[in-house]
Amino acid sequence: MWLKEPFHWQLGWLLPLDCFRLHRVNMRGIKKSSYICCASYHSKLSLCQQKDFLDAVWSSHVQPGDSCIDATCGKGRDSLRIAKLVGPKGFLLACDIQTYAIYQTEALLRSEIDPSQYPRVEFVCNSHEFLSKYVKDNSIRLISYNLGYLPNGDRQIRTTARTTTNSLESLLPKLCHSGIISLVCYVGHPGGLEERSEVLNYVAKLPKDTWSVTYHEWYLSIPFNLYSRIDYMSHSL
Ligand SMILES: C[S@@+](CC[C@H](N)C(=O)[O-])C[C@H]1O[C@@H](n2cnc3c(N)ncnc32)[C@H](O)[C@@H]1O
Repeated sequence: MWLKEPFHWQLGWLLPLDCFRLHRVNMRGIKKSSYICCASYHSKLSLCQQKDFLDAVWSSHVQPGDSCIDATCGKGRDSLRIAKLVGPKGFLLACDIQTYAIYQTEALLRSEIDPSQYPRVEFVCNSHEFLSKYVKDNSIRLISYNLGYLPNGDRQIRTTARTTTNSLESLLPKLCHSGIISLVCYVGHPGGLEERSEVLNYVAKLPKDTWSVTYHEWYLSIPFNLYSRIDYMSHSL
């Protein structure tokens, strides 16, 4: 079955993945002020397309000087993208439950970002369930969750339905107006389907006058015009 494509498993990737998007709307539901995003891609689509997809969503919302959270920093690739978006006046809070992941993320940021462009970065080695205590106010523009386990790492150390929904619950109030939360769920490993299902249940129960949620899923297994997809998403906001 396509869920277990050998090539992707050799690479250590957890496929397929799903993303969603939630929007926070104002009381009259006319102007959207913030949202959460999740997405999904078919296992036969290349990873660069998934990366491009998130890049397009993030870069249309995150501005230089913003404060953002990478709630599962892993090897640091998402943190690197976020750090480049927020720039030297911005702030990145990078979290992972594994010390090794924190080291990897810090090393990647140091090697890839010119010191003059380096944002203020704080690393937290803890479960993202406890991240809210590191954020004083509702100033966060983007919170990224790239769920599952560390590629090529210990697959037993992975996010779960409980830890993810606990973390969401505590961090939702920290999002600023026009902020986004981006969740990428993988369902090809034990607990992945349950985690996606719990996340969907959780976001479906958010108050409709305050939040709007979009679930994105790739249907095509061949390359297509990604940016028309992004335009479609923007119009749906
Ligand atoms: C798919 S990887 C993240 C990939 C990463 N964003 C990147 O760009 O390389 C998932 C990460 O979640 C971390 N993780 C698992 N449970 C966690 C938890 N409760 N709190 C924070 N991080 C957790 C794992 O250690 C792993 O590094």
